[in-house]
Amino acid sequence: MKKITNDRLSELIVMRSVCQRYSKGDQSINALVDVDFTLCRGSTCAIVGASGSGKSTLLNILGLLERPACGDIEFAGRDVMNASSDELAQLRNREIGFVFQAFNLLPRLSAVDNVALPMTYRGVDRQSARAMALSQLQRVGLSNRALHRPADLSGGQRQRVAIARALVGEPALILADEPTGNLDQACATEVMDLLLALNRQHNVTLVMVTHDTVLAERFERRIEVSEGQLLDRSDHAAA
Ligand SMILES: Nc1ncnc2c1ncn2[C@@H]1O[C@H](COP(=O)(O)OP(=O)(O)OP(=O)(O)O)[C@@H](O)[C@H]1O
Ligand SMILES: [Mg+2]
Repeated sequence: MKKITNDRLSELIVMRSVCQRYSKGDQSINALVDVDFTLCRGSTCAIVGASGSGKSTLLNILGLLERPACGDIEFAGRDVMNASSDELAQLRNREIGFVFQAFNLLPRLSAVDNVALPMTYRGVDRQSARAMALSQLQRVGLSNRALHRPADLSGGQRQRVAIARALVGEPALILADEPTGNLDQACATEVMDLLLALNRQHNVTLVMVTHDTVLAERFERRIEVSEGQLLDRSDHAAA
C-alpha cells in the first residue's frame, strides 16, 4: 500500500470531499455529501444527528468497512482509496476496534473466549490469545467474570466485554455506534466512563455515535450529521 506521508503523525484520519451514494431500485440516496473531516490521534469525537442523517455511514467509512463513492481518505498515512480489500482488512484488524449497540458477542463462548477471538483470527495461539484477553478483561474490571457466557452477564457487563474485545488488538481507534443504546442510565454512564478513561490513559482515539446529548457533551468534539453533511457543534466552533 502506498504511504502518502509520515510527517503528519498527529492526524489519524483525513477525509477530503468524501461522498457516499446508495441505490435502492431506481432511487439514489446521497448518504454523505462532500465531507471534509480530520481526526487527530488521541482525540474524542461524538457524532450526533437525526435518524437516517448518515452517522453510521460515516462510521463505516471511518472504520474502513465501506469505501466511499468519491473523495480521498488517508488512514494512518495510508491511501485508502487505492488500497486493496486485503490491505484494508489488515489495517482494520490492526488499527480499529468496533463496539456496537447490540454487543455482537458470540452466545456460546465465555467472556474470555469472546475477547480472545480477534487474536485467534490474527493467528495468535489459543493460550496466548486467552492470556491477552484476560488482561483486557482486567482493564475493563471484569476479570472475575471471565468464564461467564454473555447470557449470564448484565447489559453493562456485556458491553464491557465487547469493549475488551475491541481493545485486545491494541488499536489506535475505537469506533462505537450507539454503544449505550441498549443500556439503562447507570450502565450507560459506567460504559461511557470506561471509554473516556481508556482514551485518557492509553491515548486510544474514540469516535462514538450517540443520540444522548448529555453523553455527547463529554467529548472534546461534537459533529452533527445533517442530511449527509457535517456541522461542527463543538464548544469552540463558530455558531
Ligand atoms: N446499504 C444501504 N443501502 C441503501 N441505503 C442505505 C444503506 N445504508 C444506509 N442507507 C441510507 O443512507 C442514509 C443514511 O443512513 P445511516 O445508516 O448512515 O443513518 P444513521 O444516521 O446512522 O441513522 P440511525 O440514527 O437511524 O442509525 C439513510 O437514508 C439510509 O436509508
Ligand atoms: Mg445508524
